[in-house]
Amino acid sequence: MDQLNNQTLVVFLSCMLLIWNIIVPQVEARAFFVFGDSLVDNGNNNYLATTARADNYPYGIDYPTHRATGRFSNGLNMPDLISEKIGSEPTLPYLSPELNGEALLNGANFASAGIGILNDTGIQFFNIIRITRQLQYFEQYQQRVSALIGDEETVRLVNEALILMTLGGNDFVNNYFLVPFSARSRQFRLPDYVVYLISEYRKILVNLYNLGARRVLVTGTGPIGCAPAELAQHSRNGECYGELLEAANLFNPQLAQLLSQLNSEIGADVFISANAFAMNMDFVSDPQAYGFATSKVACCGQGPYNGIGLCTPASNLCPDRDANVFWDPFHPSDRANRLIVDRFMVGSSEYMHPMNLSTIMLLDSKT
Ligand SMILES: *[C@@H]1O[C@H](CO)[C@@H](O)[C@H](O)[C@H]1NC(C)=O
Ligand SMILES: *[C@@H]1O[C@H](CO)[C@@H](O)[C@H](O)[C@H]1NC(C)=O
Repeated sequence: MDQLNNQTLVVFLSCMLLIWNIIVPQVEARAFFVFGDSLVDNGNNNYLATTARADNYPYGIDYPTHRATGRFSNGLNMPDLISEKIGSEPTLPYLSPELNGEALLNGANFASAGIGILNDTGIQFFNIIRITRQLQYFEQYQQRVSALIGDEETVRLVNEALILMTLGGNDFVNNYFLVPFSARSRQFRLPDYVVYLISEYRKILVNLYNLGARRVLVTGTGPIGCAPAELAQHSRNGECYGELLEAANLFNPQLAQLLSQLNSEIGADVFISANAFAMNMDFVSDPQAYGFATSKVACCGQGPYNGIGLCTPASNLCPDRDANVFWDPFHPSDRANRLIVDRFMVGSSEYMHPMNLSTIMLLDSKT
């Protein structure tokens, strides 16, 4: 009799646990916030009077809707793929009118193509959301969410969120190296410019921490000197543009050092360094090893390497988008983004320091 009762109890408890698991997911999808430039913008610039936009064919040709969305990709971009990995819906652009009510709890994307660490980066694009403004919007976002779920829950949502920050490439491409004898290149030697950028970046990251960020993936700059746009302008035999490679080689280690320094000041691993340079360089230096036909020629563009001007409806378009590392003269293809985000997820410490995203998810699900 006793034994039967025990068995009944075990069966009953198992059923309850099963029902509990179905009703209350063990790992709640966490909110996701995105800050930065065109590598991570998913449509904010559609709402702005700017020339930095990706809202026309053939952008989005491989997106689920096959429409241009403002993402600088033929399909998905890094934030979409990170959302997939953490089991969340893709975040909406902060300026989207659909970002209201419940949708706010999923997070938001504040990124804007053309921006950099400095305010004078990307001035030729006119009306874009500079990084200080993105952070102001983050504050405004938190006020809106507070009205929905209260202050305490809002702080929790932000503290538990995953954040992606992708910044810095434009401070070289669309500032220092934009024209010969640019104002910044007359003001600074390259090594001193990098030191200045890092000191400004520090303020931005401290500000982000003060706004409640506790898990922030920070990407350094990729091998921008190897982008088809740079090859078209500077390369005779397909070699990468040395000055931009040097810029990345100066910037990335100092950024990684800054992140370690901030973590030790805070006393926690808040900032995670994602080595975008190494991740991209793998397939830039040996595209065939990763199933690409070329890392030099953009899929969409015109002129040498399809690297001149913008990707427009009138541009050349390659037949197999998965065969190209670069989709347009500056941005990786959907397939390259997938390989990059795989490294975010399970990369060794050479790629992700002090830990990769799968480790972060494991750690954060336990607290
Ligand atoms: C950039 O602009 C913002 C807002 O106008 C300002 O607060 C910030 O100090 C500026 N940054 C630099 C480096 O001048
Ligand atoms: C992900 O990071 C963890 C912890 O650093 C490490 O043990 C694991 O090997 C990494 N994954 C891969 C595939 O390297």
